[in-house]
Amino acid sequence: MGKRYKNISMAVIRRLPRYHRYLKDLIDKEIYRISSKELSNIMGFTASQIRQDFNNFGGFGQQGYGYNVEELYGEIQKILGLNNDYNCIIIGAGNLGQAVANYTDFEKAGFYIRALFDSNPKLIDMKIRDINIYDIDKLEEYVESNKVDIGIICTPREAAQDVANTLVKLGVPAIWNFAPVDLDVPEEVIVENVHLSDSILTLSYLLSNSQL
Ligand code: NAI
Repeated sequence: MGKRYKNISMAVIRRLPRYHRYLKDLIDKEIYRISSKELSNIMGFTASQIRQDFNNFGGFGQQGYGYNVEELYGEIQKILGLNNDYNCIIIGAGNLGQAVANYTDFEKAGFYIRALFDSNPKLIDMKIRDINIYDIDKLEEYVESNKVDIGIICTPREAAQDVANTLVKLGVPAIWNFAPVDLDVPEEVIVENVHLSDSILTLSYLLSNSQL
C-alpha cells in the first residue's frame, strides 16, 4: 500500500483519472515537461484548479519549470493505487460480464479478472479468454480460498442486491457495480457505480434540448 490520503473531495478524486490519461498521452508524444498553463489548455481546467488539485497531495510543480510529466504521471499512478495489483471477479457472465472479461487493458492497469460466476448452467465451465465461469454456488468457496479485492456485478438488477450482500458477507472490500440499482452496503464497503443508462439519458436530455 502507498501513502494514504484523507479528506480529499470526490470532485478532486474524479479528476485524477483524467490527469492520468492526459499525462500518459503526453508521454506517448514524448513531451516530458509542461507548464501549468499548457497543461490547463489541453485539459480544459484552469491553471489554478490544477495547482489546487495537486496541492491536496503536496503539490508537484516547480515555479518557473512547470511539471515533469513522467514524475507527475508516476505520482498520480501512486495516488490512484495503480502501483498495486487487484484480484477481481465478475458475477453475471452475460453480455456485459463477458465484455468486461474480454477487455485486456484492465490487466495492463493491474486489474486481473480471475473468475466469473453465473447462475445459468449453460455458461458454467465455459472460458472467456482463459478465465473460467463458475457456478454461482461456488462463489463462497472461491472467495474463502482466494483473495478477492473487487467484485464486479454484471447481473440483472433484480439479482444485484443479493449478490452485493453475499460479497459483503464474504469480506470483499470493493464492488464495481454495473447493474442499474443503487446498492445498500455497509459504509466501509467501497462501491463505484457505472450506470451507463444514466449517462445515455443525460445525452438524450442534451440532444433534445440542443438548438440543432
Ligand atoms: P445478460 O442477461 O446478458 O447477463 C446477465 C447474466 O447474469 C446472465 O448470464 C444471468 O444468467 C446472470 N445472472 C442472473 N442472476 C444471477 C445471479 N443471481 N447470480 C449470478 N448470475 C446471475 O445481461 P447484460 O446485458 O450482460 O447486463 C447485465 C447488467 O448490466 C444488467 O443489470 C444491465 O442492466 C446492466 N447493463 C448492461 C449494459 C450492456 O451494455 N449490456 C449496459 C448498461 C447496463
